[in-house]
Amino acid sequence: AAAAAAGGTVVIGLAADSGCGKTTFVRRLTSVLGAGTAAAAAPPWGGNPGSNTLLGDAATVICLDDYHSLDRAGRKERGVTALDPRANDFDLMYRQLKAIKEGRAVAKPIYNHATGLLDPPELITPPKILVVEGLHPMYDERVRGLLDFSIYLDISSDIKFAWKIQRDMAERGHSLESIKASIEARKPDFDAYIDPQKQYADAVIEVLPTRLIAAADDDGDEGKVLRVKLIMKEGVEHFAPAYLFDEGSTISWIPCGRKLSCSYPGIKFSYFPDTYFGHEVSVLEMDGKFDKLDELIYVESHLSNLSTKYYGEVTQQMLKHADFPGSNNGTGLFQTIVGLKIRDLYEQVVAERAASPPALAAVA
Ligand code: ADP
Ligand code: G6P
Repeated sequence: AAAAAAGGTVVIGLAADSGCGKTTFVRRLTSVLGAGTAAAAAPPWGGNPGSNTLLGDAATVICLDDYHSLDRAGRKERGVTALDPRANDFDLMYRQLKAIKEGRAVAKPIYNHATGLLDPPELITPPKILVVEGLHPMYDERVRGLLDFSIYLDISSDIKFAWKIQRDMAERGHSLESIKASIEARKPDFDAYIDPQKQYADAVIEVLPTRLIAAADDDGDEGKVLRVKLIMKEGVEHFAPAYLFDEGSTISWIPCGRKLSCSYPGIKFSYFPDTYFGHEVSVLEMDGKFDKLDELIYVESHLSNLSTKYYGEVTQQMLKHADFPGSNNGTGLFQTIVGLKIRDLYEQVVAERAASPPALAAVA
């Protein structure tokens, strides 16, 4: 994580394949940051909430699709996918993000998802927090160096498939065969260019099939019950990992009972230290789903280092957005916690700046 320039914008990177929950995460994050109604409105084509989504005057969200150097026709002609670095202008991405971080406005291109064309650019003035979400926020070393905090949403292929079917069949009228084919076609580029970025992330949310149901009993309901891991890197500036019961210990906890209603197959939490691509990390894991969201307060009371401003804030955020995907499981819970950690990181950076005069900070 790069130290934010004195007085400059704090930059957060969010990477994931398309259809893996970036938009949902951004909506939870912006809600935690204290604004968020602008981001809540999804555009008519059902995709990202629009580039340059303004959240009060605190945060701006940039979708990195705006740095496509090849439009839809160009990609087709050259036979490259949007995941291929050759379809993206990393030089421009770097120059513009660096300029924003240094306090200068830029004319950012706009990729139009409806037409597949590049629209005329728009002016982006430096916000307090810039969220850059997309396929490649950690791909280019220079861009990566500008990020103050980074997140990767790692959705296992079975679950990704289940989510895509749900969305593209139900909402977009695609056939099962065409969805399968498009996933297969993207897979080599996903493996080569998107997935490797997770090694650089400060926090990874990993979504896996449940272990609470024996594979033999699973009637193909992948994506219904999830095992979700929040992998938090140790030693990241301004980021203290959340923990369960005792920091640094190894714990397995089944909270179901008098204080938490659980129907089959129940809920299981785990907490343990681990290594991830050679980094020390601590991991919080939740397998299963909540039956009654307000009872989440019981789980929240056993978690520490959540960076909440008052008791019950995690539960309140989850209840507030109960209609978002993943609200009854670890995806929503961990996205909310990461949102709170980002707010905390931002506040720490601001406090540090206030404590050290800009002139000195610039020299240091
Ligand atoms: P992205 O912005 O990465 O394309 P979205 O946040 O728009 O992803 O999510 C895409 C779709 O994936 C949603 O419409 C939903 O169907 C599904 N989805 C995303 N997150 C979850 C989740 N946590 N649980 C279940 N489905 C989800
Ligand atoms: C955006 C998304 C990609 C998606 C692409 C569509 O760039 O981020 O995930 O693949 O649009 O590309 P296509 O070449 O199918 O229009």
